[in-house]
Amino acid sequence: MKRVVFNQKGGVGKSTISTNLAAESALRGYKTLLVDLDAQGNSTHYAGIDINEDTLTVADMFKQIVGWFSKPQPPTAFVQQTAFENLYVLPADPTLATIERELESRYKMFKLRETLEALSEEFERIYIDTPPNFNFYSKAALIAADEFLVPFDCDHFSAQAIERLLENVMEIKEDHNQDLTLSGVVINQYNAQAKLPSTLIGELQEKGLPLFETRLSSSVKVKESHSHRTPLPFLMPSHKVTKQIAALLDEVEQR
Ligand SMILES: Nc1ncnc2c1ncn2[C@@H]1O[C@H](COP(=O)(O)OP(=O)(O)O)[C@@H](O)[C@H]1O
Ligand SMILES: [Mg+2]
Repeated sequence: MKRVVFNQKGGVGKSTISTNLAAESALRGYKTLLVDLDAQGNSTHYAGIDINEDTLTVADMFKQIVGWFSKPQPPTAFVQQTAFENLYVLPADPTLATIERELESRYKMFKLRETLEALSEEFERIYIDTPPNFNFYSKAALIAADEFLVPFDCDHFSAQAIERLLENVMEIKEDHNQDLTLSGVVINQYNAQAKLPSTLIGELQEKGLPLFETRLSSSVKVKESHSHRTPLPFLMPSHKVTKQIAALLDEVEQR
């Protein structure tokens, strides 16, 4: 099962949600792969993977596709093992940004699907983190995935942007990946006391969007887990947000 977490807006929780869902999935015993397609490498860093010049990354995997990589390697060669049992990462590095144009001009958007299909034989769950753009990498991810999740940060502009986002994704679905399904919208940094979030959430419901019942609270522990480079299920198993992540994964798995 391949799931992509996508929203073209930055800072909505893509890296947080993809990394923590992957971590919770690994904790449940699924051999899980986290694919980081953002050149910033936030989820790579969060999962504790250090990149040095010898580390093979997802950018190297794409370089191999366009013939820039000397020794041919199987897809598993680009996968890095984390310190957490069952959790593996196909890490990002900053050169993803420099090769994007070349990949785009050579129509390599379908290659990620082939690679992840091959890796599906080894990994029971694949979570894909995407950049904050509707660019080559997010399109490749949406073509490669079975399901997509949309993090929503209860911001006025996000509510306006979500329709445009879904239009973009539906176009990819229609043209390239008929089987892609919207798993649901994840309400992140939810504040039950504030009025705006419930108004915005009501609007999403009126539009008929599938919202996950589980909402992720805003918590400093999320930021702490980023700086500890340890996803919440491993860092704070009994914290409120960890329990929300577990409940969210239950819902994701049931859909
Ligand atoms: N539920 C949350 N509570 C507190 N901080 C959060 C929460 N979700 C995300 N953050 C913080 O917001 C910032 C953006 O989150 P991130 O997952 O990197 O978003 P994106 O990948 O969409 O850009 C990060 O600093 C992260 O620690
Ligand atoms: Mg991110």
